Parts: sequence; C-alpha cells; structure tokens
Amino acid sequence: STRVNNSVRISAVTAESSSPDSLKRAVAKKAVELVKPGMIVGLGTGSTASMAIEELGKLIAAGKLKDVMGVGTSYQARVLARQFGVKTVDLNDVNVIDIAFDGADEVDGQMNLIKGGGAAHTMEKVVNTMAKKTVILVDQSKVVSELGLTFPVPVEVLPFAISPVLRSLVALGGEPEIRSALRKDGPVITDLGNMVVDVRFPGGIKDPADLERRINMIPGVVENGLFVGIVETVLVATKDAEETVII
Ligand code: 5RP
Repeated sequence: STRVNNSVRISAVTAESSSPDSLKRAVAKKAVELVKPGMIVGLGTGSTASMAIEELGKLIAAGKLKDVMGVGTSYQARVLARQFGVKTVDLNDVNVIDIAFDGADEVDGQMNLIKGGGAAHTMEKVVNTMAKKTVILVDQSKVVSELGLTFPVPVEVLPFAISPVLRSLVALGGEPEIRSALRKDGPVITDLGNMVVDVRFPGGIKDPADLERRINMIPGVVENGLFVGIVETVLVATKDAEETVII
C-alpha cells in the first residue's frame, strides 16, 4: 500500500516474516530496484543500509547494473561496499548523487527524521541532501506521530567544545548525555574524530525545523541528527502490508 501526502511517498513493503532481519532485507531489496546503470548511489550507514549495499553488490555481480558507483557515508559503508563489490568514489569527485539509501531511527508523517544512531549523521546529511532522491528504509516501529518522544537527537560535537555545547543544549530545553562506547571506557568517537551527545527533549519535538537550526547555531556543534525536508521516499517494511498503519 502506498500513501501519498504532500508530494512525499511512504510505501509499505511486505516481508517474508516479522523478524528484524527479514524486514530489513525486504526494504533493502525493494530499494535497489530503483537503481539504474551508470548511477552514483549514496550508501547509508547502519544495519538496514548495510543490507542495501549487499543487495546492490548482488545486482552488480549479476551484471544487471553496469557502471554504478557508490559514495559512502562512513567507514562502515565503504568497507561493506568493498566487501560486496560496489566500487566507491569520493564525494568531492562527483557533482551529483542520483539516489541515496539510508536507515533512520525515527520517521514522522512529513518524512522528517531522527538519524545518527550509528553516529554517522553528519556525512549522511551531506550525502542525502546532495542526492536527487533519498530513500529511507525502516520498519514500522520507527514510524512515529512526533519526533523525539522516544529517541534522543544525536549531536556531533567538537571534543574541544564539549562543555559549553552541553550547557547550550540544556539552555535549549534538552537533556544531553555524552554517548559512551560499549565495552570501552570512553566516549564514542565518530569517523570525523568528534564526540556524540544524545539529547532528550521531554515532551517531544514540536518544530523539528526550528530545533535543527537552533542546535546547529551552537558554536562547537558539527551537525545534529534532525533531517527536515530532505527525504522523498520512505519504504516501511511490514509482515502484512494491508494492516500497516502509516501516519
Ligand atoms: C546511522 C543512522 C542509521 O541509519 C540509523 O541509526 C538506523 O540504523 P539501523 O538500520 O541499524 O536501525 O542514522 O547514523
């Protein structure tokens, strides 16, 4: 089933089972059907985007997509591209990205997102903004009526400025927490060498565009995980498309 609201498309994609892997695989397969020979493809980060890289590699290996090049949004994406036989090119060596695939942590009914669960949102925002078409791959658990009620907003911060940035985020009404690495005694460090602060906004985010701008105005902030007005298509994986409720 497809719902069209204000020129944006949110489509349900049926999976074989409701296991997380099956849901991710279903949208990954559907997404790569949109790629045509010769396209430059933005390669997202995270477990769902990783499956899209793998599926893209399968089509290339089968000779169905000639001259396709990928632009990675992280070391993870570039390593997977190499592993699955997708050639990559530097962002600065292309003038255009034809299509980008990526996951998300939350999606609202206007197709605004929270991203950055994988700490890659800064490069993802550059690639997704540059792409003629950005396709977001999620399962229904990530579709929400309002952003920020359950997932915090990830903010990439220059380590040099961590304390003043934390104070400024509190002044914006947020509850910031420095993301720490599992099994390591220290902070997560992004591919760009920065720290990540996860900021809860109790009560949700009423105006994502305004909050996105305000956070990025704080000196020392590199980029935040609110993506507003960037996405054209969201594919929502579901076991039963007919029962899918899209906001
Ligand atoms: C990385 C992201 C990811 O796309 C997001 O965290 C979703 O990941 P997954 O597909 O593993 O649930 O924004 O920065």
